[in-house]
Amino acid sequence: MAHSPLQTPLESRPSGPLVGRIRVPGDKSISHRALILGALAVGESRISGLLEGEDVLNTAKSMQALGAKVERSGDFAWVVHGVGVAGFREPQSPLDFGNSGTGCRLVMGAVAGCPITAVFDGDASLRARPMRRALDPLALMGAKAIAGGDGGRLPLRLQGARDPLPIEYRTPVASAQIKSAVLLAGLAAPGQTTVIEQEASRDHTELMLKHFGAGIVTTAEGAHGRRITLTGQPELHGAKVVVPADPSSAAFPLVAALIVAGSDLVLSDVMTNPLRTGLFTTLREMGASIEETGQRGDAGEPMAQLRVRASRLRGVEVPPERAPSMIDEYLVLAVAAAFAEGTTVMRGLQELRVKESDRLEATAAMLRVNGVKVEISGDDLIVEGRGHVPGGGLVATHMDHRIAMSALVMGLASDKPVKVDDTAFIATLFPDFIPMMRRLGAEFS
Ligand code: S3P
Repeated sequence: MAHSPLQTPLESRPSGPLVGRIRVPGDKSISHRALILGALAVGESRISGLLEGEDVLNTAKSMQALGAKVERSGDFAWVVHGVGVAGFREPQSPLDFGNSGTGCRLVMGAVAGCPITAVFDGDASLRARPMRRALDPLALMGAKAIAGGDGGRLPLRLQGARDPLPIEYRTPVASAQIKSAVLLAGLAAPGQTTVIEQEASRDHTELMLKHFGAGIVTTAEGAHGRRITLTGQPELHGAKVVVPADPSSAAFPLVAALIVAGSDLVLSDVMTNPLRTGLFTTLREMGASIEETGQRGDAGEPMAQLRVRASRLRGVEVPPERAPSMIDEYLVLAVAAAFAEGTTVMRGLQELRVKESDRLEATAAMLRVNGVKVEISGDDLIVEGRGHVPGGGLVATHMDHRIAMSALVMGLASDKPVKVDDTAFIATLFPDFIPMMRRLGAEFS
């Protein structure tokens, strides 16, 4: 639960061209889901390319604690023997999700459909994040959260439903975590569970449920939304899952290559699910050279190779309806925007306030301390790009890996080095980030 109190600061310095070919770690969202669905299936699931970061390893441990057999069989290769839908056993000790909202909320959904009680906990960052958004629909399905404090924060005890009810639920915010929690609980309910979202959020749970044998139908709802209906109590069968490289992790070396003069970088196997590629669309609108080749797919998830070359960027306006498809990428987009010529306006970022940190405030602070003019107006972030960044600042990471990596990327092209106070949390998502960037030519010390 507690993370090491020792901070590991790092300085990022103006660097020469970033050149080479890399494969960033497996997609975080798909890795969590592969472990959870493997644990709820009957028989054996083989996962390759799993993200072996702390967040996902905590989900693996929670699946073991709930009765599934989860074993590492090689580098990034894992085998899961599941217990079947609603087959979890009561865990002996609290489930610790560390820094991960995704692991926590998805497993809450899976536990909500089982007649067991489990304690959910996490680190200081996760304990500060809202859980009601997942617990409210789960309560409608019959699960009970018995919490301390105001009831919406960890640690809390969740009592799953003996006879879960199927529901039709309209999510109050576009959140794949809320949607997934309801669908995972709905697996154990008889009849049809429906989730309606105003704006489509990442659909990995739907695609993977189908891959494991569930009946699930998605139709359009309004201009940008979706209606997803799952038929409950399916027999999920074990499956093979190949985890593509995480586009949200690729975002860091990708933006670094765009802003460091002379860079030419190839990123392989990057997942290109359109509900995750808002950053690539935006960067292309800004003038980025990102070439996509070799499209292929596995288990419904498309992937491709990206070649990125240093580019002159210009400011753009990013519409609010694009937010769900790039929700984790605004920090590093703000870095790209600071190096662009002109103003970039990013609209509708209210969800950034409830991530691993308040990312709206933290992004503005990261830029400001490095001499960039930035403003928060309501839920919008406005960055004045001047074609260069003065740098020289110390960035507070607030237990948030994406702030640490964004600031390190910024320092590679700014006039003066950029320091971050703590790089420890990078291990939650991208354990190899620092050595991988160094191999490409990044100067970190
Ligand atoms: C995720 C959904 C997003 C995202 C998170 C991963 C997922 O969160 O920020 O990193 O795997 O479902 P929300 O669903 O809360 O927007």
